[in-house]
Amino acid sequence: MDMNRRTFLKTTGAGLVTAIFPMSLIKLAFGDTGPAEDFTFGYISDAHIQQIEGDAFVRNWDMGLIRAVREANLLTPRPDFFMFGGDLAQLGKKEELDHGLEIMSKLRGKVHYVIGEHDYYLDLGEYWQSKIGPLWYSFDHKGVHFVVLNSILTYDSWIHQKWASPMDRMLAMARLDNPHGSPFMVGEEQLTWLKNDLQKIGRSTPVVVFSHSPIQKIFKPWNFWTEDAERVQALLKPFEKATVIYGHVHQIQYNQIGNISFHAVMATAWPWPYPESYSQVASCLPKLTVPMNRADPFFERDATGWQFIDMETGKAGMYYQLPDNTNRRVVFNPKIGKPQDLDYQEYSNRIPAQQHF
Ligand SMILES: [Fe+2]
Ligand SMILES: [Fe+2]
Repeated sequence: MDMNRRTFLKTTGAGLVTAIFPMSLIKLAFGDTGPAEDFTFGYISDAHIQQIEGDAFVRNWDMGLIRAVREANLLTPRPDFFMFGGDLAQLGKKEELDHGLEIMSKLRGKVHYVIGEHDYYLDLGEYWQSKIGPLWYSFDHKGVHFVVLNSILTYDSWIHQKWASPMDRMLAMARLDNPHGSPFMVGEEQLTWLKNDLQKIGRSTPVVVFSHSPIQKIFKPWNFWTEDAERVQALLKPFEKATVIYGHVHQIQYNQIGNISFHAVMATAWPWPYPESYSQVASCLPKLTVPMNRADPFFERDATGWQFIDMETGKAGMYYQLPDNTNRRVVFNPKIGKPQDLDYQEYSNRIPAQQHF
């Protein structure tokens, strides 16, 4: 069934707000003018599956991921593929990764994985690579070039300092506001690889980069930060349509830097507060960001979720599915040249950020 875009948005928007099950989206016929074929993909991130002991895992984190997988399985027509955005595990343990993959195995469709710091710093990605695959790679789909980066690397001197145990290193990287942590980075080896990878791609081809940390500098104390972000941005500069989609921040964020659009994805585990509301320390949170409307800030599930994404314009249109909160749409607006929250531009529609002391 072909529908124009306005009808599509009205239909899916209204349908998704009022009814969780069943969920449907109507696929658009792709226009003649774009560089790529229209399609959708699903995105689930930051499940933080956490072992308590033996077979016991934190139930709330399990339930967030299970719910996202169930809802994603009801999408009609099927998204072409799914992404998982990193932090599948809480402390990088085999048991956690296995348990998370078991839940993810119920998701119908191909899944591409991005690694997060919680998956990495126990064994430096060894088990992940044996079970899931490489830590950085690229693939092409219907005229779009997709790149997966491992953006949570850091200085070798930090990684290989004298830790009491690998778990001590994991715990040091897992905390916010941690004086013993270290900034994330992509690193020389991957930058060289990325440069070569992108050299094969035409400048009008839409490019989408998936990373765990933001490839921009938002708030260093929480590692909402990538130390060599500008070097990745420089490699994306020649492309007409470049988008970076990242996890890690557990909240809706979006931004535009030159030609590059940035979008964060939701966590299924818990929402982080906005840095500015928590720390009273200056953050570089993009001016464009509209704080997420939280139905009940004391109920952690109201700001968790997942999203499906359309590539109709060669730029990502993000459709955030937020259990127990109003779904959100952040879509690139060609008239203003940046992503726009379609529902919460007006201050009067927003719930103010909570102050924490
Ligand atoms: Fe996370
Ligand atoms: Fe993370």
